[in-house]
Amino acid sequence: MTRPHPDHAEQLDLSGPISHRLRLRQLESMEIPRNRLNDQGLPGDLAYQLIHDHLMLDGNARLNLATFVGTWMEPEARRLMEECADKNIIDKDEYPQTAELEERCLRILADLWHAPDPLAAVGTSTTGSSEGCMLGGLVLKWRWRQRRLAEGLDAGRPNLVMGANTQICWDKFCTYFDVEPRLVPLEADRLHLSAEEALQRCDANTIGVVGIVGSTFDGSYEPIDAIARALDALQQRTGLDIPIHVDGASGGFVAPFNAPEWAWDFRLPRVVSINTSGHKYGGVLPGVGWVLWRSGEVLPEELRFNVNYLGGTMPTIGMNFSRPGAQVVAQYFNFLHLGREGYRQRMASLEAIACRLADRLATMSPLRLVSHPRGQLPVFAIECDPEVTNWNVFHLSALLRSRGWQVPAYTLPANQEHRSVLRIVVRAGFSSDMADQLLADLERNLAWLATAQQPLPPAADEPSFRH
Ligand SMILES: Cc1ncc(COP(=O)(O)O)c(C=O)c1O
Repeated sequence: MTRPHPDHAEQLDLSGPISHRLRLRQLESMEIPRNRLNDQGLPGDLAYQLIHDHLMLDGNARLNLATFVGTWMEPEARRLMEECADKNIIDKDEYPQTAELEERCLRILADLWHAPDPLAAVGTSTTGSSEGCMLGGLVLKWRWRQRRLAEGLDAGRPNLVMGANTQICWDKFCTYFDVEPRLVPLEADRLHLSAEEALQRCDANTIGVVGIVGSTFDGSYEPIDAIARALDALQQRTGLDIPIHVDGASGGFVAPFNAPEWAWDFRLPRVVSINTSGHKYGGVLPGVGWVLWRSGEVLPEELRFNVNYLGGTMPTIGMNFSRPGAQVVAQYFNFLHLGREGYRQRMASLEAIACRLADRLATMSPLRLVSHPRGQLPVFAIECDPEVTNWNVFHLSALLRSRGWQVPAYTLPANQEHRSVLRIVVRAGFSSDMADQLLADLERNLAWLATAQQPLPPAADEPSFRH
């Protein structure tokens, strides 16, 4: 219930013809419940103002160097998104034009990722890469089980091989779908999966290997081609045919432009499916993702559902039913607006900014690079020389935060968890000018930290970050 302050209970009339500001001031004297519904609603302008003011303490999205997710789009794309805000992507019969744009996006991605026949690749838009990964993993498990059962073998103990650096969505997949995760631990000089380590963990119960392009922790590309070659050799030796799912959440939109000659995609027959986030380097605001299978043959019939109650018969693949259509339209906008050359230029410019940042940071003692963004995602991680004991990267992160920069500090995954790093993600909307300001703030903060005579108390968020 909206509980008026006892002294003002009689006087409040928020609907009267008094000024917006005066009505707001009256509102301030009321206690508005936060965790249960008001008995009476508020006029729209006051509700807007209250929520708007509440949100002012959120970070500035453009200064958020933590996220891979888009924080900027052209005004024309935003206009289209606004025009499509009321469209549900699942209503394909009602919004056939939107559905057609989704199909075009899928064919464009199939072509970009070298599907043998882009028109025969199947896939779907999703809420993001997590849903794409669930679907990719599920198809791996389904196909493995079908094969095992057809051969009269036990299908009760599936496992999935991947690096310990995989994103948390793969832990979720394994828990939700009862699959044993076989995680390859990291080493000081290897922060992602290698072909040899992956191979050592494969057996007859392996539903697939997940390879990441590129890794959430340091932006590096896993050697999908070498993993495929190792699995080819394994098949020749043992008959085991283990497929690869590529988690291209970020790199699915970067590798085709900054490493066009590198075969990581459907050029490798062993790659059966690929997911990506349209809302990461696809350049769309959250949330849209994509998952594609190299051809209809690899997607079991049982995982396609047909519904006809929305008018027309419509096969659906996907965890969700209703989803916003606007992001799919915005994805198509980017394809049309940027084209191949526009994406290439964007990725080249982000890589150049990230490299300049990384090169300068490498000269700022006592920081040192954990990865370099050249030829991978425009993302890199830095750590502090272990000889520094009075402060750590969590303190540096907190100091940057006081200027508005959001640069997360976190510990590396299993086997390297003793190492804390800062990660910087360079995305569309982050200019060279902003990079210069960040460098200046880093220099200033490092100079201040160097004056610490004894260990600083732990920073407030140490250690918390897990992406
Ligand atoms: C490699 C990788 N996979 C999956 C995801 C999950 O993506 P989404 O946030 O689009 O669900 C991420 C997110 O950062 C990622 O980096």
